Amino acid sequence: MPLSSDDQLKGKVAIVTGASRGIGKAIALGFAAQGAKVAVAARSENQVRADLPGTIHETVETIQAQNSQGLAVPCDVTDEASVQNMVSRVIEAFGRIDVLVNNAGVAFGRSILETPLKRWDLVLRVNLTGAFLCSQAVLPHMIRQGSGSIINISSLAANDRDKGMVDTGVAYGVAKAGLDRLTWGLASEAGCHGVAVNALKPVKVVDSEGMRLWSSEEERQGWTSPARMVACALFLARQSSGSVSGVVATDDEYFAWHGLQLSPNPQPEGGRPHGS
Ligand SMILES: NC(=O)c1ccc[n+]([C@@H]2O[C@H](COP(=O)([O-])OP(=O)(O)OC[C@H]3O[C@@H](n4cnc5c(N)ncnc54)[C@H](OP(=O)(O)O)[C@@H]3O)[C@@H](O)[C@H]2O)c1
Repeated sequence: MPLSSDDQLKGKVAIVTGASRGIGKAIALGFAAQGAKVAVAARSENQVRADLPGTIHETVETIQAQNSQGLAVPCDVTDEASVQNMVSRVIEAFGRIDVLVNNAGVAFGRSILETPLKRWDLVLRVNLTGAFLCSQAVLPHMIRQGSGSIINISSLAANDRDKGMVDTGVAYGVAKAGLDRLTWGLASEAGCHGVAVNALKPVKVVDSEGMRLWSSEEERQGWTSPARMVACALFLARQSSGSVSGVVATDDEYFAWHGLQLSPNPQPEGGRPHGS
């Protein structure tokens, strides 16, 4: 029997990293609205900066306000012990893990000459090593279950051959290119266990608290909402290695290839191509 439009992830347990704000928060809320129990994993337990709103507790409060189950788990994806602890807490609370969204990300929008080693390291650790650590920690559970879906949030910056239309810095593009390669490698290793692994990158700049921090009002005019990213993440969350796996593609491509549609009352669309 086909699932109704609001129970596509009923009974599933999802972890979304970087879900204290931005695209990760939108995906976490979208998953919860479709019946998933969602672990919201990021560092912010309290708002520290006035210009950077969003905490894991606020995301979970919003999930609970829509009568869904959420779990706020403080987690620094660059720290192996923190990641292991986060996954243990999710297993303790929900008993299984069906979906991992490796969404946590940072950029450093300066030239190579202006990028100190510690910034280079941080960008690679959050965007790439973080996804490696989280995938390594959840995979034994997915393999035991014989199913699962890992979604890596990548960027067209991985494909840029110059500094990109939005200058997010070369370290960011390098990290996302590595994430694309990790996607293929993970898909090939996890496929025989039923686990799907795919990457998703937005074509247009997505309005998020993080992007707002370092952009002008004028630049924001063409941005789009996270609605298309949420629709693609919902689609990918339901895949197994026997269906869609090993794909690195944009939101536009997933929409075109799989006939995806936005749910009713989508956020306003529009915007320009980006390299972030
Ligand atoms: N917005 C776009 O147009 C766009 C385009 C292409 C790709 N992306 C990708 O989409 C993802 C989300 O971007 P966004 O625009 O929504 O960014 P954002 O608003 O800045 O949110 C980034 C999230 O990552 C988390 N994070 C950062 N460092 C972390 C760490 N060490 N451990 C755990 N969580 C960490 C942050 O939470 P805490 O600070 O609470 O830890 C926050 O929740 C990123 O991977 C980004 O590269 C975005």
